[in-house]
Amino acid sequence: MKTLSDTKVNLSEQTRAQVTSILNQLLADLSDLCSQCKQAHWNVRGSLFYPLHKVFDDLAESIGGHLDPLAERITALGGVASGTVRQAAALSALPEFPHGPSEGLAYVTAMIDRFGLAANAVRKAIDDTAALGDAGTADLLTGVSQDLDKGLWFLEAHTRS
Ligand SMILES: [Fe+2]
Repeated sequence: MKTLSDTKVNLSEQTRAQVTSILNQLLADLSDLCSQCKQAHWNVRGSLFYPLHKVFDDLAESIGGHLDPLAERITALGGVASGTVRQAAALSALPEFPHGPSEGLAYVTAMIDRFGLAANAVRKAIDDTAALGDAGTADLLTGVSQDLDKGLWFLEAHTRS
């Protein structure tokens, strides 16, 4: 079955298939991460409630803002974006949000793990897409990487000196 649309983009079909696969994995990971930020935003409790409630919402907004550009890069390359909640759940490489205590720092620790996984996956994807000759995708991912690293800093600052 042909999975890529024809396009004048002069990257080979094989390259476009590899890049769109990488991007669909990241779309799933970041959709999952965004929803987990919201889960933390809604359910956090404890003495740090309000600042963490706000931080988790800010992080969800930051990550959520990257979903549309990622999905549209997939379609610009002739691919099909796998962007539904069910597709994200099936494909995401992140662990599910913990069902444990909702005390603030437990949530921060859980989100540090997930932001670290996502940030490092995007960093690898920058190298992989650049090596495939797709500088446009590598450039798009650089901004995503910077925001994930910044989010990680915001989270880690709560737990590290
Ligand atoms: Fe809210």
